[in-house]
Order: sequence, then C-alpha cells, then structure tokens
Amino acid sequence: MRETKSEIARKIIIALDVKNREEARSVLESLPEARIFKVGLELFTAEGPAMIDLVKSFGKEVFLDLKLHDIPNTVAGAVKSAVRHSVAMLTLHAAGGREMMKKAVEAARETAEKENKPLPLILGVTVLTSLKDNDLQEIGFSDSSRNQVLRLARLAVESGIEGIVCSPQELDPLRAELGSGVRIITPGIRPAWAEAQDQKRIMTPEEAIKKGADFLVIGRPITRAPVPREAFSRVLKELQAAVEGA
Ligand code: C5P
Repeated sequence: MRETKSEIARKIIIALDVKNREEARSVLESLPEARIFKVGLELFTAEGPAMIDLVKSFGKEVFLDLKLHDIPNTVAGAVKSAVRHSVAMLTLHAAGGREMMKKAVEAARETAEKENKPLPLILGVTVLTSLKDNDLQEIGFSDSSRNQVLRLARLAVESGIEGIVCSPQELDPLRAELGSGVRIITPGIRPAWAEAQDQKRIMTPEEAIKKGADFLVIGRPITRAPVPREAFSRVLKELQAAVEGA
C-alpha cells in the first residue's frame, strides 16, 4: 500500500538539540509539517518534562532520548514516568542487560494498560558511535565494535525491545541479523545538499531508507537551514521518491 505524505513525514525525527524552552519553541514553530521531535539530555536537563508537554502542545509526538542505563527497578520507574507523559518513543542502553530491558518493557506495558496511555516504542542503544575499538578495549570489551553492536542488538530483541538505534553504517548488518520485524532508527543523516558538520560516517536520507531504516533523526541540516520548513520539504520529497522507487 502506498504511504501517505504524512506517513512519510513521520519517518523524520527532528532533533531538538537546543538549550532552552524559547529555542525549542522557535524550532517547533518553524516546522509545522514535522511530526516527531527528539527531546534529549541537554534540553531535558535544562527544562525538564515541561518540554514533552511543549512538543505535545504543538500536536507533535515526542521521542524521549535519555538513554536510560541503571538498575532494572530504577529504569522501570523512569519508563513508567515516560509512559505517563505519553511519549511515543524512548531510548535505553542495551548494555544495561537483559533484566533491565525486560523490566522496562513490562513497566511500559503495565503502565500503558492501567493508565490508558499509548504504549511507547522502546529503542535499544547498542554501542555509542563515539567509541572506537580501542575505547571499547579500554573499558573491558574485547570484541570489535561491530560484533558488540550485533550482540547487544540480539540481546535487546530477545528481551522484548522492538527497536534499535544505530549508525547508517550498521543498517546492513543489523537488518540482516534482525529481519524486518524490528524498527531501526538512525542519526548521522546528511542530504547531499547539506554540510556534514561534525558527522563523519554519514548517509543521505534516501540511502538510509532504501537500506531499511524506519526513522531518521535529523537535526542541523533542517533546524539550522536558512528556511527550515523548505529543508524539511526537500528531505520529505527525497524520501517520497525513495519509498516510491523501492
Ligand atoms: O544535527 P544532527 O543531524 O547531526 O543531529 C543528529 C542527532 O542525532 C543529534 O541529536 C545527535 O545527538 C544524535 N546522534 C548522532 N550520532 C549518533 C547518535 C546520536 O548524531 N551516533
């Protein structure tokens, strides 16, 4: 079935990488067609859960990217709080282990059901792309980053996690390993017409979608464009072409 424009727009997650409420509001105002916004550590630490409400007040969905990593009981508690705020997606570190992930998934299900809230998509973060093989060795992981990514992704899925965050370079091996049932989200996206900034291993939106990404996290190429709304439309058109050509 053909996806609608609005369904394709939902593949783009706009990173609200800003310092405070005023800047967040201005990004939200500049992108009326965007549907999902990522609230991460910087904005959440500055302004708290009021930022979730701000995004929702624009009729948008929230991807809460706090990369939870703690004992199972504490993570389950944080997940319950996130469900009460009706976030659409949230992240945790797969390195927190099987029990932590299982408890998180259970907490989300129970709270959503009991309190009649939407069930968020819980995403596992595997190996931070800032860690190279020698950094991993330094913290006691002897395997290569690629094997560690696959190991953690498998563990996440076994623990009931339904989505994985990965770099564009990991799309092929992860899709091959996990099959089509798992949602994959990738940052590090740069349209051919945008500057790379500090992103190194990048991919264009159409390449990432063709390689099986379900959602793309895009920040500066859209939010810092001279006219963000136009940049968003341009990415959207590229995605439509990719989806239709697929
Ligand atoms: O502005 P830009 O498109 O580079 O923003 C990408 C977003 O994705 C940022 O919020 C960044 O923290 C996040 N991210 C990333 N690379 C990773 C993991 C997350 O750029 N490997």
